[in-house]
Amino acid sequence: MPGTRSAVPVPLHTNGGQRDLTEEILEAVDQSEHVATNEAFPQIPQGEIKAALDRLASRSMVEYETKDNEEVILTEEGQTIADEGSHEYQIWDAVQKAGRLSDKDLGAHPASKFGRGNAIKAKWIKKDGDGWVSLAESVTDHTRVQLQHVQQHHVMQDPKQQKDYTKRKLITTRKVITYVARKGPRWAKEMRIEVTDLTAEMIADGSWKTANFKPYNFNAKGTLGGEGAGGGTGALHPLNKVREEFRKIFFNMGFEEMPTARFVDSGFWNFDALYVPQQHPARDLQDTFYVSDPPEAGPPGPDPEFDTILASMDVDDDQDESDHPTLDPAARAKDTTSKLDYTKYYDNVRAVHQDGKFGSIGYRYPFKDDEPKRLVLRTHTTSISAYVLHRLSANPRPCRYFSIDRVFRNETVDATHLAEFHQIEGVIADYNLTLGGLQAFLKRFFRNIGVPDLKFKPAYNPYTEPSMEVFAWHEGLNKIVEIGNSGMFRPEMLLAMGLPPDLRVYGFGLSLERPTMIKYGISNIRELLGHKVDLGFIEGNPAVRLDRE
Ligand code: PHE
Repeated sequence: MPGTRSAVPVPLHTNGGQRDLTEEILEAVDQSEHVATNEAFPQIPQGEIKAALDRLASRSMVEYETKDNEEVILTEEGQTIADEGSHEYQIWDAVQKAGRLSDKDLGAHPASKFGRGNAIKAKWIKKDGDGWVSLAESVTDHTRVQLQHVQQHHVMQDPKQQKDYTKRKLITTRKVITYVARKGPRWAKEMRIEVTDLTAEMIADGSWKTANFKPYNFNAKGTLGGEGAGGGTGALHPLNKVREEFRKIFFNMGFEEMPTARFVDSGFWNFDALYVPQQHPARDLQDTFYVSDPPEAGPPGPDPEFDTILASMDVDDDQDESDHPTLDPAARAKDTTSKLDYTKYYDNVRAVHQDGKFGSIGYRYPFKDDEPKRLVLRTHTTSISAYVLHRLSANPRPCRYFSIDRVFRNETVDATHLAEFHQIEGVIADYNLTLGGLQAFLKRFFRNIGVPDLKFKPAYNPYTEPSMEVFAWHEGLNKIVEIGNSGMFRPEMLLAMGLPPDLRVYGFGLSLERPTMIKYGISNIRELLGHKVDLGFIEGNPAVRLDRE
């Protein structure tokens, strides 16, 4: 399976066979709350243990602490005593076995130098005339027992004794690193396959729900902000740079920015409010991504978050300020909402589709109330413009709004098309606007981004009449190309919202990707967006000025 990583065993050789140390550790941690690795795996080098623990800890299956311990070990001489008995024991043993040992023979015994005195002190032997005899049938060789204990457990209970043995050079200490492992927050007894990529197949077959995703390692060097090869800086994506240029141009031309944090919208705002007929091919599955969970949207209504953002921009608006000099944006948002009747608006939209209203003869088909409730990945940001224009009916006035954000279309992906792109959209509301005024505005707008000489072609949008596609000369391609779409919103759209008849609204839209690709000389959109983008390109590309070549 692509994008997955299975357990890579850390090999451990026992009896010529292969064991997986990670499995051993999981087994041990499963059985006891705290596993001291030096006790559980005394034969395995700590380096191997650490590698296995790290693998488990990176998946949060196991947690561990490192302990700097001191361990008591036997010297060579201590080892001999543990194996053969203490000097005093050897002396007693020799006397006991012989029954009686002459002074000369005892003195010749290799252990006599250190052992004789202690054997006498312990009352194991005594002088008998000119020889030595045993005083005990059997003796317990405490030194040997204690050293054997050290050999097995690497500790000494009695510190005085430890000091004594250290002085006698029977024992010494060494530093050891040990690990204490326990269950982690994502404990599992088995090493599950970790998934590193979310794929289309996983979404389609539902396996993403149970997949075990490998967490991102944000501390890895050389990536975001790391000290490694990538350098410690971030970089604006070219699309963000061009987006910023467009924002400045819009702000300079007196536009306010619409909130757009609503990728999923209802069929009502994306289609019905814009008079896209309910049978229109644009609403087909082939063209639009529908969302099945949650199954449906509620009826159109106020979005308090959007309304607060919009109200905070109204602060600069003279008319509003004198209306509500004291209220904070959230309170003003509520005040505005109270003047809006969403039910009436819905009924008006429904009536225009089905029977005609506001001078329109309508489409004259039975309007289905299910369609407006369907949730879609918005196919254009005009859904947001519709919401903002309806809100405008609470306080109709000349105003200019823009947005630049992502939209989604179920397109076949190729060098110039992705299933998602960014739309730049503007709306201008004013009294008694004319089509000539829209052309003049578009010429000014595109001159600001370095595109002179526009051509207009009549076009069709369900929500604008008249509509115009905007064309311009493309130096690189040496031909005239389409760069945008525009129009004047239909009266039945604005009247249904409750806007006054003489307030007219221009609308226009263009993609952010097209001017960006032209400016940066990119011919394949996949070099600009998506997982194949070269980070070097993102970090290295220059700033852009739209009005300069
Ligand atoms: N929604 C149109 C598009 O997707 C752009 C547009 C917006 C056209 C507003 C007219 C008015 O291309």
